[in-house]
Amino acid sequence: MDKIVIEGGKPLNGSIEISGSKNATLPILAATLMTEDASVIHGVPDLQDVATMIKILRSLGASATFAEGSVHVKPGRHIEAHAPWKLVSTMRASICVLGPLLARLGRADVSMPGGCIIGPRPIDLHLKGLAALNADISIEHGYVKARAKKLRGAEVYLGGAYGSSVLATANVMMAAVLAEGETTIINAACEPEVEDLARFLNAMGASVQGAGTHMIRILGVRKLRGAEHRVISDRIEAGTFMAAAAITGGHLLIKGSDPSHNTALIDKLRQSGVSIATHNGFVDVRGKAVQPVKITTLPYPGFPTDLQAQITALMSVTKGISVVTEKIYPERFIHISELGRMGAQIFLEGGSAIVHGVKKLSGAPVMASDLRASAALVLAGLAAEGRTEVYRVYHLDRGYEKVEKKLEKIGARIWREKA
Ligand code: EPZ
Repeated sequence: MDKIVIEGGKPLNGSIEISGSKNATLPILAATLMTEDASVIHGVPDLQDVATMIKILRSLGASATFAEGSVHVKPGRHIEAHAPWKLVSTMRASICVLGPLLARLGRADVSMPGGCIIGPRPIDLHLKGLAALNADISIEHGYVKARAKKLRGAEVYLGGAYGSSVLATANVMMAAVLAEGETTIINAACEPEVEDLARFLNAMGASVQGAGTHMIRILGVRKLRGAEHRVISDRIEAGTFMAAAAITGGHLLIKGSDPSHNTALIDKLRQSGVSIATHNGFVDVRGKAVQPVKITTLPYPGFPTDLQAQITALMSVTKGISVVTEKIYPERFIHISELGRMGAQIFLEGGSAIVHGVKKLSGAPVMASDLRASAALVLAGLAAEGRTEVYRVYHLDRGYEKVEKKLEKIGARIWREKA
């Protein structure tokens, strides 16, 4: 197992290229199952989660290869309906094969994805949405069993206790594409990744309108064809590098990212005194955060939960008291105790982290607990005095492509060692 070692305290300077979006790629790869034709997806990041999704496609009978940022998938005429626990349990996003399998085969047996370190992650909205499209759903022996002689379009409300759901919207949208008649998804997730999936489905011959808003209209079609598609860039990776510039007081040109996907973060960084200029396709981030902020995570276009840990790390060295409230996953605060080991002063109060900015963090051995928590610990290590060792970096490898190489290129003293 590897660890990441960082000698902190060096401002980052230079330009950095953002990779393709993990969270756009995963449902798009699942959608390739909806036709027997070949599809090609470009701009795919080389990540553990992508490798897992490719394994799942293969286990379902598709041929899938990944080379130089492109995945070629050919499901062929016969695919399986059974997505096994052994694979699904390693990645929650595997649940997004449920809609495609049900749509294409009329049946799907997909292992329940189970719990997660960032808190409970139910799938009731996925199941409610598919049931509304005329599927019979049961949970048997740890598997979701979905059956439908004929999926039928319907009006589906997808709001949950914490707002809209990204992957439930994706699953219902994919199933509705091959359903008979019209489907309207109300309180759909508006995330750019949902919009990207809709673009891919439309390139396959689907009729999806309104993706990127809270109301998506889908007119069912009988068949889809293969398509070629380039995924959008990763807004969470881009946001993490913005925070890296701000926590080290550096100057980064973040290229290949769409600033409009990070409006909430950019607004908060500006409020805290970081200078940010946005251009078409890149973001210029300069200087240190100097003012505390109040942040609440919300569904898009609100502040993303996937940047909560990183902004908390940034505020831990920003003078004053910041308040970071988590409204999507109220238990997603495991990183706080590890940041505390580096000298951060953060107190949990209900679903909020009260962050008292300290002058300096000091490097320490720390344990990553999930993907974004790992990113927060790397950010803290970049700013800290001395040596930080981040253990369990396999979490980081699930979602950040070549992270230490990218950081090294912009001046960080960072490398990987065997733990
Ligand atoms: C997606 O997960 C992302 N994953 C997550 O990224 C991200 O944190 C999350 O959206 C929120 O933005 C992918 O896109 C692969 P949700 P998803 O359903 O779709 C509740 C990362 O670090 N809910 O939008 O599974 C849920 O508990 C990750 O890259 C229900 O109540 O998340 C949460 O409170 C981790 N019932 C809220 O909705 C359901 O059936 C939003 O979750 C489904 C969700």
